[in-house]
Amino acid sequence: MPTRVLFVCLGNICRSPLAEGIFRHLAEGAGLGAAFEVDSAGTGHWHAGERPDPRARDVAKKNNVDLDQQRARQFSPDDFETFDHILAMDRQNLDDLLRRKPAEARADLRLLRTHDPEGGHDVPDPYYGGRRGFDDVYGLIERCCRELLTTLRTDGA
Ligand code: 4NP
Repeated sequence: MPTRVLFVCLGNICRSPLAEGIFRHLAEGAGLGAAFEVDSAGTGHWHAGERPDPRARDVAKKNNVDLDQQRARQFSPDDFETFDHILAMDRQNLDDLLRRKPAEARADLRLLRTHDPEGGHDVPDPYYGGRRGFDDVYGLIERCCRELLTTLRTDGA
């Protein structure tokens, strides 16, 4: 059974699509493409059905990561059953998810940056900034995803 990993942000057009694309790219590069099912979602519904933000697509493409198949969707309470690991981009996302989490939920829910070798809490929202913000966020998410992949393959989880 593949390990199911879900990344969650607010809009599902900037940070979590990048995390989904980067994690999948790293897993495939490590020959572990079939070991994981990767998805992303937003706590908000406003962008449902949209493609990732063009600035996210550009920074991904520069790094050979493909976001073309992705379309935004809102997080569903069913996701707590479907996924083994749910990684929230910031503390607001985490609080929103904790409020919706049923007591018997199976998924392990935590901040993505619990996997940041440099420490920290939030993946900053680049939506209202310039392209530079997307470069910074890309690097941050990538180093967290590398660590997450190492952890999950070590756990065999
Ligand atoms: P994301 O960024 O949560 O990383 O996808 C945002 C996208 C859209 C909005 C906020 C954040 N918005 O307010 O529309």
